[in-house]
Amino acid sequence: MSRAAVLCGLGGSLPERIVSNEELAEQLDTSDRWIRTRTGIGQRHVVAPGQSTSDLAVAAGAQALASARATAGRADDGVDPVDPVDLVVLATSTPDRPCPATAPDVAHRLGLGHVPSFDVSAVCTGFVYALATAASMITAGIAGRALVIGADTFSTILDPADRTTRAIFGDGAGAVVLRAGDSGEPGALLGFDLGSDGSGADLITVRAGGSRQRSVPGPAAEGEEFFTMDGRPVFTRAVLDMSRSSQSLLERVGWSAAEVDKVVAHQANIRILNAVGEQLGLEEKQIVANLDRVGNTVAASIPLALRDAVAGGELQPGHRVLLTGFGGGLTWGSAALVWPELETGRPHR
Ligand code: COA
Repeated sequence: MSRAAVLCGLGGSLPERIVSNEELAEQLDTSDRWIRTRTGIGQRHVVAPGQSTSDLAVAAGAQALASARATAGRADDGVDPVDPVDLVVLATSTPDRPCPATAPDVAHRLGLGHVPSFDVSAVCTGFVYALATAASMITAGIAGRALVIGADTFSTILDPADRTTRAIFGDGAGAVVLRAGDSGEPGALLGFDLGSDGSGADLITVRAGGSRQRSVPGPAAEGEEFFTMDGRPVFTRAVLDMSRSSQSLLERVGWSAAEVDKVVAHQANIRILNAVGEQLGLEEKQIVANLDRVGNTVAASIPLALRDAVAGGELQPGHRVLLTGFGGGLTWGSAALVWPELETGRPHR
């Protein structure tokens, strides 16, 4: 047994407005049938004018903190339910502003005091990177209790005329609380596998708005402020890198793929999830999918899938869980844990 970060709270938040495939098809040359068969997505949530990533992050964070308090109150595990959070890590690629980071504002609005807080930028792998960062700070003794949030509002950076990206991405936030504990406890994060390959940086990108473009006098070229993605190579790499990362972590943790109860992979495309399942030799019941209801919510994708799987009774205490993500950068990452007993309350939408 050794000191470990233990997951002890879970929350999520989605903006109210739902955009159905049918609504998209009224604006763009697409159809419900194309979107469902090629991606598995049926609808997505999008922010209202003036609503930002931090608004969703605060709502998800508050829910995860309430879940951690309720879990500690019930569990009688010797953990003080009022132990304060002393670290906030926010994974996002759509911060409220390019500078400063969004996490300090989120920590402030949650009333967490002067805790260290910062953003992590790894696009759709952001949540796994943030989880690894916070867990490492806990095991190193730098923090005792961390709020880890994945939040993105990709609807704010999409080209309104791009039928492909508008069909795929949705807005949302998901959050977990980690506390210092013991590697033998349910909820302990048992290991991570992380990687990147910058040779694929152009496959998923926003070309304008950074120093490369802004060091040139004058405005950005038209359309460069929008998010772009080269779908086919991204599809191939997502399958390859999530499968390889999962396999390598499973070897390290000592689980076979058959021993994993639930794989909660980044919700990019149902065909990607199925292909990863095939590569790993998984059965359909092992794969968690909620992308039909929320689309690809980027850094929020994995914690929102966890929240929905718990709410639906699909994910149970004692289950062996493998998390795996892939995203821009390119980046990828996986984490493993045994699912703990959690009080989660009602999902916020
Ligand atoms: N509605 C109708 N047709 C569409 C469409 C839409 N929403 N989006 C794309 N198409 C068209 C394309 O324009 C193309 O038409 P063409 O053959 O006339 O050029 C055709 O459908 C096939 O495009 P293709 O890119 O080959 O489709 P695909 O089966 O690969 O699916 C993606 C496209 C984007 C859904 C798929 O590549 C994908 O999911 N990629 C990974 C995306 C991802 O996960 N990104 C995030 C990673 S973190």
